[in-house]
Amino acid sequence: MPTGRTCVVTGASRGIGRGIAVELGHSGANVVVNYRSSEGPAHEVVDAIEDAGGRAIACRANVSKYDAVAGMSDRIHDAFGQVDVLVNNAGITIDRTFENMTPAEWKSVVAVNLTGVFNCTHCLFEDLRRADNGRLINISSVVGQQGNYGQANYATTKSGLFGFTRTLALEMADSGSTANCVAPGFVKTDMLETVPGHVKEHLQDRIPLDRFAEVEDITGIVRFLASPESRYMTGQILGVNGGMEW
Ligand SMILES: NC(=O)c1ccc[n+]([C@@H]2O[C@H](COP(=O)([O-])OP(=O)(O)OC[C@H]3O[C@@H](n4cnc5c(N)ncnc54)[C@H](OP(=O)(O)O)[C@@H]3O)[C@@H](O)[C@H]2O)c1
Repeated sequence: MPTGRTCVVTGASRGIGRGIAVELGHSGANVVVNYRSSEGPAHEVVDAIEDAGGRAIACRANVSKYDAVAGMSDRIHDAFGQVDVLVNNAGITIDRTFENMTPAEWKSVVAVNLTGVFNCTHCLFEDLRRADNGRLINISSVVGQQGNYGQANYATTKSGLFGFTRTLALEMADSGSTANCVAPGFVKTDMLETVPGHVKEHLQDRIPLDRFAEVEDITGIVRFLASPESRYMTGQILGVNGGMEW
């Protein structure tokens, strides 16, 4: 990763986003650590990057709110100027069988996981097109490929990212910038902690590599996609799931 590329990682206070932010920061990027409410953890991520000699800022913004994202975009431009890489990672689950799912539970997940991706990409689209090797990286899920019991809202948003990514790849191609999707399997974060133990056992039975992913199993792939080395790869969905079929 060339030093000084500016990378925005949404939902970077915890879990996969935190890992991606630290990985990119340690690779020489300027990193924007976006978060919704975990201010202390977000600043710890900034410290971890700065302690290793990198540059980072924490930026609070609820990605589901367009005005908040537009404000974040202004703060990023003031701090670092041009953005080169956007990693749309922020995501939530509200699990319920479909017959019990309320309209509010549906809308909340769509608001963060899909509309949040629209908002961030829309506010930074010109940056990504203008950048030398601009990169749009969307974090989807194996659940978007397979569906999952009790996750109609979440699975729909994660599948939606496939069409979004492929379309943006077409609309960015004339600028030389790319759009790709990473679809992790089940990763050991707070999100996986919300899954009941017996369901986790059943999930693990479906993973040929017979373990859940560590955050570090995902971050190196994102570092590669964020770098100029991935320049001829666009519109792709990279499954990083221990060999799960779909
Ligand atoms: N864990 C898995 O098994 C797994 C598997 C496949 C894909 N994924 C995907 O990977 C991404 C990260 O998942 P994770 O497991 O790391 O989740 P996590 O540990 O629950 O962390 C979620 C992160 O997203 C942020 N966030 C949530 N809502 C937000 C909003 N409205 N605006 C801005 N930030 C928001 C949180 O910020 P605060 O700390 O401020 O709340 C936090 O930093 C998600 O898109 C998820 O769907 C996860």
